Amino acid sequence: MAKKSFPLSEVYSLLESGPVVLVTAAWAGKSNIMPMSWHTMMEFEPPLVGCVISDLNDSFGMLKATKECVINIPTVEIAEKVVGCGNIHGAKVNKFEKFGLTAKPASMVAAPLIEECYANFECQVADMKMVVQYCFFILEVVKAWIDPAVENPKTIHHLGKENFMISGERIKIKSKIK
Ligand SMILES: Cc1cc2nc3c(=O)[nH]c(=O)nc-3n(C[C@H](O)[C@H](O)[C@H](O)COP(=O)(O)O)c2cc1C
Repeated sequence: MAKKSFPLSEVYSLLESGPVVLVTAAWAGKSNIMPMSWHTMMEFEPPLVGCVISDLNDSFGMLKATKECVINIPTVEIAEKVVGCGNIHGAKVNKFEKFGLTAKPASMVAAPLIEECYANFECQVADMKMVVQYCFFILEVVKAWIDPAVENPKTIHHLGKENFMISGERIKIKSKIK
């Protein structure tokens, strides 16, 4: 098979790391929403999630100051709102109002849950050792919520630029290869 060279600048688009999530943070009386696709599970329990949150984003300062956020998992039904939240900075606008999303109080953190998302994870920052060099926060999920009515959530996966993939068929795989 003859393979061709692939641009290093697009490697990220082949290694999408999971569903696009909406990170909510609250600070100084303001709440904000930031789409994020660069995240990774790091531990089963307590659940640890590593996240790259750029220091160019308003959410970076909010997370650094409060050490709390919520990871909300949206589905394709609100995909346009998700992308819209990523095209603007929270300092300039109230994204809940602009995109018609509903903030609900969380139980263990000050950041709000997004009602329209089928799952919400309340998080506390567990480790900031790699923030200065990589903007990499390690979050511990301290409370998780899920809508039991949503059976097969069509989550949104970022393939670079304006390209996305919607999660599809669920299958079980048992390998017989020994
Ligand atoms: C699909 C998508 C995925 C994104 N993933 C990330 C990410 O993983 N980390 C990040 O820092 N910014 C990411 N962004 C960019 C931020 O969401 C964007 O800069 C946003 O406007 C920041 O909002 P804020 O300044 O209000 O925090 C992503 C944007 C989109 C649309």
